[in-house]
Amino acid sequence: MNAADTATRAAEAVRRCHVLASCSEEPGVTTRRFLSPPMHDVHAQVRQWMQAAGMTVTVDHAGNVRGVYLGTSAPPQRLYIGSHLDTVPAAGAFDGILGVMLGLALVESLGGRRLPFAIEVVGFSEEEGVRFGTPFIGSRALAGSLGQDLLARKDAHGHTVVDAIRAFGLDPSRVGEARVDTPAVGYLEFHIEQGPVLDGLDLPLSVVDAIVGMSQLTLTFAGAANHAGTTPMTARHDAVAAAAEWVLAVERLALDTAGLVATVGQVAASPGATNVIAGTCTATLDVRHARDDVRGTAVATLLEHAGTVATRRGLELWHHVRLDHPATAMDARLIALLEQAVADTGAPAHHMASGAGHDAMVLARHMPVAMLFLRSPGGLSHHPDEAVREADVAAALGAGVRFLELLAAERS
Ligand code: GLV
Ligand code: MN
Ligand code: MN
Repeated sequence: MNAADTATRAAEAVRRCHVLASCSEEPGVTTRRFLSPPMHDVHAQVRQWMQAAGMTVTVDHAGNVRGVYLGTSAPPQRLYIGSHLDTVPAAGAFDGILGVMLGLALVESLGGRRLPFAIEVVGFSEEEGVRFGTPFIGSRALAGSLGQDLLARKDAHGHTVVDAIRAFGLDPSRVGEARVDTPAVGYLEFHIEQGPVLDGLDLPLSVVDAIVGMSQLTLTFAGAANHAGTTPMTARHDAVAAAAEWVLAVERLALDTAGLVATVGQVAASPGATNVIAGTCTATLDVRHARDDVRGTAVATLLEHAGTVATRRGLELWHHVRLDHPATAMDARLIALLEQAVADTGAPAHHMASGAGHDAMVLARHMPVAMLFLRSPGGLSHHPDEAVREADVAAALGAGVRFLELLAAERS
């Protein structure tokens, strides 16, 4: 593929991301949670593009769109390329979606040529964890690890994952069929970096070495609701005040621990009125570190601190662990191939770890995985102004084409 073709395909991939960004639960912004109604439009559009590229398209019963481009190998072997189609609330156009569009562009760039392995491009139904508080529903289904506990989890309206699958027109009793059943050459995920590193270094791409480990919890401080005007300050069991004291300790611990990030991204007070002392306050906690022992210690410390604050203030504390995912190394052989592919296109083969979670970390338990990051201008992501440079998308596509050539050469 010459440079002009690559640039044209990159521009088309970006245009497609913008088309899909218009499929939203809310006007004016992009919000698309697991199997919400606009996901029907996304599926219809992606299906059309995939079929035009010569792929056979299905939607599995976990809501993943899957396009298969056959190879020449017998017995069949398959390279999976994908990312997610869901978004956070008020999202940008590229987180997840660009990885799916680049997989599609890679197949298109083959121009009908067959490789010694099939390519399956997967648009995962859910990676963000927004609707049900636990991420990776789509990739867990491919990995065969979508358990009953997650299927029974409820969203804010009391609908379970099973309900959502059924409401979308799929059959929850068949999610097991989504499991990967063809021997995998590996999994490749293109993704925007979502942070400032590559922009700061003025580099277009980075090979990902590993993804940090992640813990996500919900804590509930349970005190006593009472009248805000008549209850003396010394006679209160204020759940919001307790949570606030703890939130600052979360920030302090992360500031004092090298490489640790810790976030309280959601706080809800109940009953929630100006003139009522909060009886309960529920807060989320997200903790990440490259080393699982450091992350585990941080989570234990923060839970102990929450308990101390609650006891001192005469409150009770409950917590629920929603995610405890270890740090995940990418596959050494695929890293080497990807590094060579990037170098062969003339771009510096930078390496870095990912602070964001990705579907690759779920699939890594079942097949060799690799990821390529694209620069995020301004380091902005999970934000409507999230961007990508077309030239960087072309660089990623060029590296992807070369990666396929190297992988094919290795197999033939
Ligand atoms: C996904 O975007 C995550 O890192 O939480
Ligand atoms: Mn993502
Ligand atoms: Mn995201």
